Amino acid sequence: MALWQRRVGTSVLLDGFHALKHALRFGAGVPVAVTADRSAALALADELAPDVRRTLAGLLTEVGQAAYASVVPRPHPTGVAALAVRPAREASLRALGKAGRDAPVVVLDQPRNLGNAGAVIRLAAGFGATGVITTGTLDPWHPTVVRGGAGLHFATAVERLDIAELPSGPLFALDPEGEDIRGLKLPDDALLAFGSERSGLSRELRARADHLVSLPMRPQVSSYNLATSVAMTLYHWSLTAAGVPGGA
Ligand SMILES: C[S@@+](CC[C@H](N)C(=O)[O-])C[C@H]1O[C@@H](n2cnc3c(N)ncnc32)[C@H](O)[C@@H]1O
Repeated sequence: MALWQRRVGTSVLLDGFHALKHALRFGAGVPVAVTADRSAALALADELAPDVRRTLAGLLTEVGQAAYASVVPRPHPTGVAALAVRPAREASLRALGKAGRDAPVVVLDQPRNLGNAGAVIRLAAGFGATGVITTGTLDPWHPTVVRGGAGLHFATAVERLDIAELPSGPLFALDPEGEDIRGLKLPDDALLAFGSERSGLSRELRARADHLVSLPMRPQVSSYNLATSVAMTLYHWSLTAAGVPGGA
């Protein structure tokens, strides 16, 4: 556990087998990984992740249950934990600001809920979005967000920025009062912005928006959950996008 102790203050905690599996698949640097049951973890790898089985076998150190439990907020059913190197902010900002992006950037304007932020990062990774930017005080690399993102922070660019620092590109802000999304094609280089769970889009974000866009919703329903709104919007983008993973 000495290596763990040396790294823990400056690393990203990967909590559970699936987070570690995803992080390895998407090229994260993982200097240390522990498990309370090495043979069970490798059996999971045989079943669910043969592509990273060899890497896991070289990486996983078995430690006692008490030592494992001492490094995670609450024990994960898979009994696996690891530390990963957080990508350099400069590299993520380069990816997010790249001219001619071929997939949207999701902007969460002052999100509050750590679980929602994790779910959105998982969606962005799945759809091959360029990345996720948060504004406000929520840390998108908070351990609870990383847990919700299932280790997929390493499959997309994730940073916190002020609205004034957002990358260039047409900004489509999602709001129930906007134009129906079904009549629109969302460009690949779009910024897709979503408001906070409590108060929706901020005034500053609205001022930067080029378009206000709505998701179909029957009267008397006030709004959808933030992460489900992101899912519908990315799905809508994917219907007309050229380079979506798994697409034809
Ligand atoms: C839970 S909602 C925010 C509700 C908030 N009470 C409000 O006043 O707007 C979080 C975000 O999801 C998006 N959203 C939810 N329902 C939507 C809809 N029908 N059309 C477009 N965006 C929607 C918006 O970006 C919204 O700001």
